[in-house]
Amino acid sequence: MKEIYHPPVLLKESIEYLKAEEGGVFVDATLGGGGHAEAILKANPKNRVIGIDRDEEAIERAIERLKPYGNRVSIYHGNFSQIDQVLIEEGVGKVKGVLFDLGVSHFHLRGERGFTVWKEQPLDMRMDKRQKLTAREVVNELSERELARVIFEFGEERFAKKIAREIVKRRKLKPIETTRELAEIVERVIPKKVWAGKKRHPAIKTFQAIRIFVNRELEEIEEAIPKASRFIEEKGRIVVITFHSLEDRLVKRLLKNLEGFKVLTKKPVEPKEEEVRENPAARSAKLRAAERITP
Ligand SMILES: C[S@@+](CC[C@H](N)C(=O)[O-])C[C@H]1O[C@@H](n2cnc3c(N)ncnc32)[C@H](O)[C@@H]1O
Repeated sequence: MKEIYHPPVLLKESIEYLKAEEGGVFVDATLGGGGHAEAILKANPKNRVIGIDRDEEAIERAIERLKPYGNRVSIYHGNFSQIDQVLIEEGVGKVKGVLFDLGVSHFHLRGERGFTVWKEQPLDMRMDKRQKLTAREVVNELSERELARVIFEFGEERFAKKIAREIVKRRKLKPIETTRELAEIVERVIPKKVWAGKKRHPAIKTFQAIRIFVNRELEEIEEAIPKASRFIEEKGRIVVITFHSLEDRLVKRLLKNLEGFKVLTKKPVEPKEEEVRENPAARSAKLRAAERITP
């Protein structure tokens, strides 16, 4: 059967932390397939959702899915770092909650934009196809030093320097065009004893790093969370779901530093065993939330 939706992660927990049942205006900053947005709309018939996504295909799917909710939904194609412009355009001063469900969606991984090491596809990795920079350019044009930095910093990959050296060596012979070519280079560099017998492909960290760099993922988060916080009403909440330690550490720090907010999750909320069994992609998810305590 064709999979129609991205299974929303930590859905019940997100709705609880957003206090969506109490009613209000919410921003879903990462609309994706619209799973969380729909649950917010269902939680209270008075709820309104303003949805943002940088991926046009996600926007199309969400429009279709959320049609039954009519003018309770507004959808914007753009970066969530533009949340301030979106809310000004909507004429909304304060909202009850903002949700960020970060990272790539199920559709990205199953699509054809080179997000996964498991398929042979062109090196692209752009979430927003209007953007110019692709993974192909990063891999073929960044200096060896810069590549090593990206792979080390955004992939937390200890073999970063060696991988960068090998990429540069290989691209002198011919441009690196596909996911398979990149994955094979990494496979050759990392000693087999480090990855043999493991389920995780040895190039996963390198792919994550390049994807984060292409999409400026950490800069987006760093800009958007403080901006979003300024629009949250008293007792309103900001809820963030992350999928890897780099994101989680950044979100933990950003929430802690928000002025006038109290962090609600001393430890992040993680999915229950049952959810991970049904949706293995949820296994690394962590939810953190903060509440505005000042008017
Ligand atoms: C994990 S999915 C969200 C899934 C969604 N909660 C659902 O239930 O279907 C993340 C989505 O965020 C979008 N995204 C990631 N970074 C973004 C950014 N900086 N601005 C806007 N959208 C972004 C991606 O395009 C993707 O569709």
